[in-house]
Amino acid sequence: MNPVFPSILSTDFYDLKDKLSKFKSGGIDFIHLDIMDGHFVDNLSFGPSIVQPIKKDFDFKIDSHLMVSNPEKIIPYFIDAGSDWISFHIEIKEGTEKNIEMVKKSGKKVGLAINPDTNISALFPYIPRIDYVLLMSVFPGYGGQKFITESIDRVAGLKEKVRSLNPECLIQIDGGINTTNTGSLHKEGVDLFVMGTSLYNSGNIEEEILQILKTMEGEKNEKAGIN
Ligand code: DX5
Ligand code: ZN
Repeated sequence: MNPVFPSILSTDFYDLKDKLSKFKSGGIDFIHLDIMDGHFVDNLSFGPSIVQPIKKDFDFKIDSHLMVSNPEKIIPYFIDAGSDWISFHIEIKEGTEKNIEMVKKSGKKVGLAINPDTNISALFPYIPRIDYVLLMSVFPGYGGQKFITESIDRVAGLKEKVRSLNPECLIQIDGGINTTNTGSLHKEGVDLFVMGTSLYNSGNIEEEILQILKTMEGEKNEKAGIN
């Protein structure tokens, strides 16, 4: 699986098809959808009706990040729309268990997202039963924000816990990701990288994806003692 998950939140929607075709030729497998309800976050984005048009021509898998106050209401719509992965926020105190079960029962992968100011220990009881954690490295609501550097330490703590509770559980990071931080984040244990703005600003999306993958190779080689 390609670890780069492009977010379409900050794309020029007039050009969406062209961007999707570049993602495809860049070897992307998953598109990340940022779903906002104007309540859990101030902003509004799009709904489940965008899933099929994105899958239609390019055969992408869809990862839906639900930044909503009532995930239990919208999860069934994303399941029916064909989203392959679905995450919702741990900050929603009620219904976490039930929502995890609802997604799992449908055969989709389930993730829990966590804001930068929520203690990662809130995730621990659920890690044995989820497929991925979405660690926010900016406060959710907008694309194009600056990466919060402390997120690197949070990855290290989370990775240690994931190793002992459920080594299959992947760590995904989201917000302000670019070639300057992917290498160190990968080294700390991040598996998947959601990226929006830095891909669109790069001038050449396919080349930028290659550069990101290279930053991870560098870390791998360093670990193996290869220069
Ligand atoms: C923020 C979203 C992110 C964001 C990523 O609420 O969850 O997915 O769009 O975009 P960049 O890479 O612009 O931070
Ligand atoms: Zn997101």
